[in-house]
Parts: sequence; structure tokens; C-alpha cells
Amino acid sequence: MLKLYIFLCISVCASAVPKFFTNNLAKPCDREACKLPDCLCAATSPPNGLQPTNIPQFVLLTFDDALGIQNSHYYIDAFNGRNNPNKCPISTTYFISHEYTNYSTVNEFVSKGHEIASHSISHTANTDYWNNLSVNELNLEFVDHIKLISKFANIPESSIKGARVPFLQIPGDNYYQMIEDSTFVYDCSWPTQVYMNSGLFPYTLDYASIQDCPIGKCPLNSHPGVWVIPMVDWMDLSGTPCAMVDACQNVPTDTQQILNFMKTNFHRHYDSSRSPFGFYVHASWFSIKERFDAYKLFLDYLGEFDDVYMVSASMVIDWMKNPVSKEEYLTNAKCSSGNAGPCRVSKTCYLKKGEEERVMPVCTDVCPNVYPWVGNPLGN
Ligand SMILES: *[C@@H]1O[C@H](CO)[C@@H](O)[C@H](O)[C@H]1NC(C)=O
Ligand SMILES: *[C@@H]1O[C@H](CO)[C@@H](O)[C@H](O)[C@H]1NC(C)=O
Ligand SMILES: [Zn+2]
Repeated sequence: MLKLYIFLCISVCASAVPKFFTNNLAKPCDREACKLPDCLCAATSPPNGLQPTNIPQFVLLTFDDALGIQNSHYYIDAFNGRNNPNKCPISTTYFISHEYTNYSTVNEFVSKGHEIASHSISHTANTDYWNNLSVNELNLEFVDHIKLISKFANIPESSIKGARVPFLQIPGDNYYQMIEDSTFVYDCSWPTQVYMNSGLFPYTLDYASIQDCPIGKCPLNSHPGVWVIPMVDWMDLSGTPCAMVDACQNVPTDTQQILNFMKTNFHRHYDSSRSPFGFYVHASWFSIKERFDAYKLFLDYLGEFDDVYMVSASMVIDWMKNPVSKEEYLTNAKCSSGNAGPCRVSKTCYLKKGEEERVMPVCTDVCPNVYPWVGNPLGN
């Protein structure tokens, strides 16, 4: 609808629409003008003319929703003690929402070199809500979330660089405008089903995207410097694409077959363009033992390659901005710094959300007065 409106306006009534509206419309990517480190056209080949077989294959292991007692044991079990070919510990990414998150665990994970990103404060369970948010409402959900996490987990605001919209219900240009105006660097909410066999690389929104829009509203305007990490879909056994692995319907139940399913999806990237391979899942998927066993065997399998790196989303963006060959990456890459402040006491706050109690472990000396929420992220 919006697309049609804009199209009509451009062709029929260009002079009648407000200037800011038409001026912002993203144009087809200009490869001469769009240059790294701050601009990159959407493409299915590696940046700067590098050959796929000559670049590191990045693997993005991400998890959504609360980070705490419900799931941290899986992460510790699966990731502790694993290194990349350059001897750096592997680094994973957590798109956290506020409720039930243990901020002491957040601090601990950041200090180990993992990345924390925003999945909104409220994670409201209504897809229409996300679709319709204004820029200001999006600021309250995402930008304020940076302040909330930073304060209670005692990690720098600058370490929170990414966002993912609940249910992947992208609210269109408003959302990318919020990212553009903030200190966020990237979004990782936008699936692609068209660019699976030769996976799409991360790119910036200075110019028009070439990406299909299977869920939510996609942007039409230019948002200079905003990075999109496309969620290249997996394919389940019946050939149906799925953006989150736990959304794949037809998956095997036997450990060895689940492992083969993971390998097949990985090789769709490794054997073609080597765009970052995303393993996007919720920890609840691991409640079936065979899946968690297969996941760990899959990480063992990835560990056998000398050019496969399990890194956080912002480490992928760092490479995109300054792409180097796998030989150079092996020798020059920096390990994730783990820039968390101290968490002196893990203090447990007992607060009320409406009538219900919420337990909120924090790294601050004092508890917030009220339960932090949208519009009052520090709980003053
Ligand atoms: C929160 O996490 C810390 C560190 O991981 C842990 O020591 C503490 O027991 C957790 N608190 C709750 C209430 O789960
Ligand atoms: C979202 O927008 C649609 C159409 O503009 C409207 O029908 C719907 O009521 C809105 N939903 C919410 C939760 O605001
Ligand atoms: Zn979620």
C-alpha cells in the first residue's frame, strides 16, 4: 500500500508531497559512490572483490528473549572452552528482552566476550503492536533498553550495537529511522528466502535493498550507515524456508539426522558465497535432548575447519567494514574484548509488575524503585 502510494506520488504528484518524504526514498545502489567502511551495496558476493573461498566463513550463533536461569546453563555447557582457528574464544550474540533477564548473567557473558543486543524492553506478544510503532515509541522500546541494560548489567552503552524486533515484525522505515538516529549499528530482523542458495551479505541502507520482504514491513527510504545482517533462511526437510531454526517445522528427531540437517544448511553457505551463516534459535529448542546433543556435535564439526569462525554479530560487521582474506584474519584478528565493568555483588531485586512479582538480579548497589519498563527504563 505504502509502496503504491509512493510510486503514485513520484509519478503523478511529486511536487505536491512534502520534500522530506520523496528526498529520502532509497535509490538503486550506486557502486561508485557507496564505499566501505560506511556504505555497502546489498550483494551475494563478498565485499571488495574477495573470492568466497578466500574469506573466513562466519557463523552467527544467536539466542532471543530473556537471558537467565532458564537457559544460561545451555550456553555455558555448549560454548565454554571452544576456540576459533585464531585461538580466540568463540563469541555468541544474545538478543535480550527485559522481563526475567538476570543482569548479573548479562555481565558475566559480556565479560567472557559474548555480545548483548536489544530485543526490546516489553517484547509485547502482539505482532500488530510491533508493525505499527512510531519512531518515538521505538525509541522507548529499543534506545531506552540500551540505558536499562547498561545500568543494571554494568556494561558500556557502546557495547550494545544491535537490535532484533520481536517476532521479526519489522515496523518499516520508522524502525530503521530509530536505528539511524541512535548508537545502534546493525539490525538482524530481516529474513530472506530469495537469497538462500547464494546467501546475501550484510549491507547498509544508504541505497535501496534488493532483499525480499517475507515478514513485517521493509524500509523504502535511505538510512545511511545502518547495517542490515540479513537472516538467510534455512530449509527444512520438506523444502520450506525458516528464518529461526525453531520455526522449521519438518526437522528430524534423531541426533545424527539433526546434525546432518544442520550440516546441510551450513554447506549452503560454505560451499557457495560464504555469506555469514546464522544459527538463530531460542534456548527452549534445546529442551529436547537430541537437539542439544546435535548442536554440540555441530559446533565440534565447525571446529574442524581452519576457516570457520563463530563470532558475534558486531564482529561480522567489523569484518564487513574492513574485509580481509582468511589468511590475514587468522593472524591479525582481535579477540572480542569483553568490556564489562565489575559486578561486585549479584544483588537480587524483588519488584512488582502490576500485581505480579518479578525477580531482577542486578549489578548495581541499589535496586530500582519500581520495576523498569517502557517509559521508565531505570525504574526511578
Ligand atoms: C543471576 O546470575 C548470577 C550470575 O550468573 C547467579 O549467581 C545468580 O544466582 C542468578 N540469580 C538468580 C535469581 O537466578
Ligand atoms: C495497526 O495498524 C492497523 C492498520 O493501520 C490497524 O488496523 C490496527 O488496529 C493497528 N494495531 C494496533 C495494535 O495499533
Ligand atoms: Zn523474542
